[in-house]
Amino acid sequence: MNVVLREMEVKDLDEIMDIEHEAFTTPWSKNSFEKEIRDNLLAKYIVAEVEGKVVAYAGIWLIIDEGHITNIAVKKEYQGQGISKYLLMGLIDYCKKRSIINMTLEVRKSNTIAHNLYKKYGFLDCGIRPNYYADDHEDAIIMWKTIND
Ligand SMILES: CC(C)(COP(=O)(O)OP(=O)(O)OC[C@H]1O[C@@H](n2cnc3c(N)ncnc32)[C@H](O)[C@@H]1OP(=O)(O)O)[C@@H](O)C(=O)NCCC(=O)NCCS
Repeated sequence: MNVVLREMEVKDLDEIMDIEHEAFTTPWSKNSFEKEIRDNLLAKYIVAEVEGKVVAYAGIWLIIDEGHITNIAVKKEYQGQGISKYLLMGLIDYCKKRSIINMTLEVRKSNTIAHNLYKKYGFLDCGIRPNYYADDHEDAIIMWKTIND
């Protein structure tokens, strides 16, 4: 499968919204994504394309020397084929090039798949944010990764 990574653009947002609604119980709005892309100078959003179709995306905020992953999602029918690994490697690479020292994220305690993905790329469990998620008050695991090279 030929996966192409590129920057997210406003024209992608209809496809992004389909994936976002499929992936999350409290999805971001189209307007939130649009603001992130247009106005947030600290944010970077990338998409993965397969045969010209947007099948996944991920985002990060760079704050001084830290990178905070905001979201990562893969369209259901494309899951389990390694696409999130391209996205995560893309974000890690982006951070390395900008001298980011640490990366962080939150993941639902019950989200074993995402937790496994992050562990695979060197993120470590560093704490819990109790009742973090607004819909069901699930705890979030806080993960950090130090970028060494
Ligand atoms: C989490 C998510 C992004 C993973 O995307 P994906 O492209 O299906 O994952 P990949 O195929 O790249 O697999 C990456 C790693 O995730 C883990 N993983 C993937 N599928 C798994 C499964 N069914 N069970 C357990 N671990 C799994 C493995 O560690 C895997 O690495 P490996 O294949 O070398 O073992 C995807 O499931 C998704 O979009 N979920 C809904 C949104 C979400 O939860 N986002 C994370 C928010 S913190």
